[in-house]
Amino acid sequence: MKRPIAYLSGTGRSLPETVLHNADFAAMGLETSDAWIVERSGIRTRRIAKKGESTTSMGAEAARRAMEKAGVAPGEVDAIILSTATPDRLLPATAVEIQAVLGATRAVAFDIAAACSGWVFGLALAESMLIAGQAETLLVIASEKLSSIVDWTDRSTCVLFGDAAGAAVVQRSKQHRGILSSFMRSDGTLADLLQRPHGGAKTPMSEQVLRDRSHFIRMNGREVFRHSVRSMAEATDRALDGARLTGRDIDLFIPHQANIRIIEATAKHANIPLEKVFINVDRYGNTSSATIPVALDEAIESGRVHEGSTVLFVAFGAGFTWGSMVVRF
Ligand code: ACO
Repeated sequence: MKRPIAYLSGTGRSLPETVLHNADFAAMGLETSDAWIVERSGIRTRRIAKKGESTTSMGAEAARRAMEKAGVAPGEVDAIILSTATPDRLLPATAVEIQAVLGATRAVAFDIAAACSGWVFGLALAESMLIAGQAETLLVIASEKLSSIVDWTDRSTCVLFGDAAGAAVVQRSKQHRGILSSFMRSDGTLADLLQRPHGGAKTPMSEQVLRDRSHFIRMNGREVFRHSVRSMAEATDRALDGARLTGRDIDLFIPHQANIRIIEATAKHANIPLEKVFINVDRYGNTSSATIPVALDEAIESGRVHEGSTVLFVAFGAGFTWGSMVVRF
């Protein structure tokens, strides 16, 4: 097992207060039901940002909490890596807006776009920056306001997503604690299966795009499901192999929270019993790259992750992208 270099010294989360229940969709005129949504996805409620709540405000709040727990002041942060699929503005990066809110004046700040895998990719990048000597104290944030990009008239997607942010402070490891292994992969030939077709540089926003609602998320749910089960299994194996561990060595498994059936299939593949799997998809739905840091922060707060715990993260998202990591706390 390699000597860990990067350690997660503090975590934080931010969740909007507004709760949207499955039953609320009927009132919005959608032909769906609590029973359908629970059976197919395991989701019961999700949080929705209210007016004024943004990717920046949620991300900054999660980051502030992570910094408090790590005992890090804004002026000590060298780098801010933000994973988001919902930047507040297309230019500049939302990471610099978070930097300004935090007052982290000496940091370099930039966004990464890897959809739901972005936070795990961000941690791997933070580790590389530590190894390269480019930073000693980093913030890796995931902030997602998916309510702003789902089509609220499309029952096949809008019931699945929610808003949230999570963050971790990453610093140099002490006492053999930290990232033990990581794995990242993508396959652009599958990009069309989960996308926002128009409204970007290739086909900029127009009346036609607005009329077609093609600037919102479009997903081939069945195909995404199939690929995510396969890719999350691969990612699980690669992170465990990299750390020279098996599923039995994992104290807590924190998979991307998109669908309870995908979570259960991945845990079964890795031989990890469900008691060792952290699940909150029922409460928050799919919050893209924020699912894992939000779950991790809740797991630490509830005592399910403590000093000495070995934790496995596995993510999958649009692109497709997939990745994984084993971390010793
Ligand atoms: N309420 C009621 N019926 C619905 C709803 C709804 N909200 N949405 C779709 N249906 C209907 C469909 O129209 C379809 O009807 P039809 O058979 O008459 O055509 C029927 O239900 C079955 O639809 P499927 O899409 O086949 O249902 P499936 O069992 O595949 O479940 C789901 C759909 C939940 C989207 C599933 O495919 C899934 O979870 N896929 C993976 C999605 C995912 O995880 N995405 C995110 C991963 S990547 C990331 O996080 C960005």
